[in-house]
Amino acid sequence: MKVFLETYGCQMNVSDSEIIRSVLAAAGHEVARVIDEAEVVLINTCAIRENAYRKIYGRLDTLRPLRKRMFKEKGYFVVGLLGCMAQNLKKDMFKHPVVNLVVGPDNYRALPDLIGKLAQGNQKRQQEIDVDLSEYETYQGIDPKRFDGVNAWVTIMRGCDNFCTFCVVPYTRGRERSRPLDDVLGEVRHLAAQGFSQVTLLGQNVNSYRAGVQRFTDLIVAVADVPGVERVRFTSPHPKDFPESLLLAIASHPNICTHIHLPLQSGSNRILELMNRTYTRNEFVGLTEKIRQTVPNISITSDIIVGFPTETEADHQNTLDLVKAVGFDSAYIFKYSERKGTIASKKFPDDVPPEVKTDRIVELFDLQRDIALKKNQAKIGTTLKVMLEGESDKRPGFQVGKTEGNMTVIFPETPHRIGEILPIAVTDATAATLLGKSQSLRMPVLTG
Ligand code: SAH
Ligand code: SF4
Ligand code: F3S
Repeated sequence: MKVFLETYGCQMNVSDSEIIRSVLAAAGHEVARVIDEAEVVLINTCAIRENAYRKIYGRLDTLRPLRKRMFKEKGYFVVGLLGCMAQNLKKDMFKHPVVNLVVGPDNYRALPDLIGKLAQGNQKRQQEIDVDLSEYETYQGIDPKRFDGVNAWVTIMRGCDNFCTFCVVPYTRGRERSRPLDDVLGEVRHLAAQGFSQVTLLGQNVNSYRAGVQRFTDLIVAVADVPGVERVRFTSPHPKDFPESLLLAIASHPNICTHIHLPLQSGSNRILELMNRTYTRNEFVGLTEKIRQTVPNISITSDIIVGFPTETEADHQNTLDLVKAVGFDSAYIFKYSERKGTIASKKFPDDVPPEVKTDRIVELFDLQRDIALKKNQAKIGTTLKVMLEGESDKRPGFQVGKTEGNMTVIFPETPHRIGEILPIAVTDATAATLLGKSQSLRMPVLTG
C-alpha cells in the first residue's frame, strides 16, 4: 500500500518516523510522495503544548475530502494517529471522524498488522488501537530509514522518569530504557560507512543512559572514536545530574561539539521546586560556570517556561536576572500550557492570565535576543569551523552550515560538498544567524 507519513514534534519523533519507515518498508509498503496518492496517512504527533494538538486537529480536518474519495474508490482509507498525542489521548482520538488507527510510541512494530486489518475490513466504522507502553521496547534490530543529509539522529534511550510536574513526556513515552552500547556503536559504524558526517545522540535525559556499568560518557566517547564520524552532538542532558566526565570528554575530543542544551525552565527557586526540577538557581549557575571553565567558548542554550502556576512578577524577575547572569547563546521560551494527566494539572490551577504570560514571554524574548546579538557580534572577525549543510533557501548563491556551537552561518557559495567542515570568517551577525566567507584554499584538482 502507499503510505504517507508526516512528522510533528521533537527530534525523537523524527527519529521514530525513521523507524516507522523501516517497519513499513520491511512489510512491503511503499512511500507515497504526495498525500493525494496515499491509501494510508500516518501522522506522528506531539503532545507537549496545547498548540501541538491544535495543529493536528487542523491537519485532520483537511483529510476529510481525501477520506471520502478514497472510501468511494477503494473501500478503505487509513488515517493513523501515532506518537505522543496518540499515547496521551488514546481512544478519545477516535472522536475525530477521520481517525481509524491510534498507535503509541512503543507499538510501531504492530503497524503493518493493524494497517492490514483496516484495509481488509472494508467498512467505515472499523477502528484499531495499540497504546500499550513497554518497559523494554528500544526497536533493537530495526535499521532506521533515514533521508540523506549530514546529520543522523540516533536514539540511545527512550522514556523519561523525571516527572517534571508540567511535562507530559513521562506519560506519553513511559519508563526510561537504554539501548545496549554495542548496538548503538554498530549503528554509528554503519552510519559512518553510509557517509553521514554527524551523529546526534538523542534521549529525554541523556544523563540517565545506563547499559550495564556503562554510562553516557562511555557511550559518547566510544561514538566519537568511530572512524568517519566528524561531529557528535547530543540532546538533552538534565542539569540535576550532569556528569563532570562528560565535560572532560568534550574538552578532550575535538569531534564532540562544544554545545550543550541545558534546559533551565525557571530562575525562581520556588517555581523550580514546584516544577520538580530538583536543582536551585545557584546550582544551575554553578554548573554553567563549571562548563565554561572546563570547555572555554562552549555554547550553552536552554529552554524556559513563563507563566507556570503561581508564578509572580518577582519569580519572573528572577528568571530575567538569571538569563542575564548566564548569557545563553540562544533559548527557546514557551508559555506554560497545562497538560492533561500531569502532576501540575492536578495540583496547581493554571492561574497566570494569558496576557501576563504574553508580557513575560515578550520581555524574556527581547532580553535573550539582545544577549544573542551581542554574543554573535563578538564573533565578527573570528574564523569558525562550519559544517556545510546545503544551499541557503533564503539567499540564492549562498550556502548554509552550522558552527560547533550549533549556530547557523551563511556564506557565498563554495565548491565544497555537504558534510565538509570549512573555516569560515565571520563578517556580520544578527541575533539568529552569522554571515561569513570561506577561508579555505581549495587546490585545483590536476588531471592528466
Ligand atoms: N526532555 C527534555 C525536554 C523535552 S520537552 C529535557 O528535559 O531537556 C522540551 C521543552 O518543552 C521543555 O524543556 C520545556 O521547556 C517545554 N515544555 C514541556 N512541557 C511544557 C508545558 N506543559 N508547557 C510549556 N512548555 C513545556
Ligand atoms: Fe519532561 Fe522533565 Fe522528562 Fe524533560 S526531564 S522530558 S521536561 S519530565
Ligand atoms: Fe517530543 Fe512532543 Fe513527544 S516534544 S517526546 S513529540 S510530546
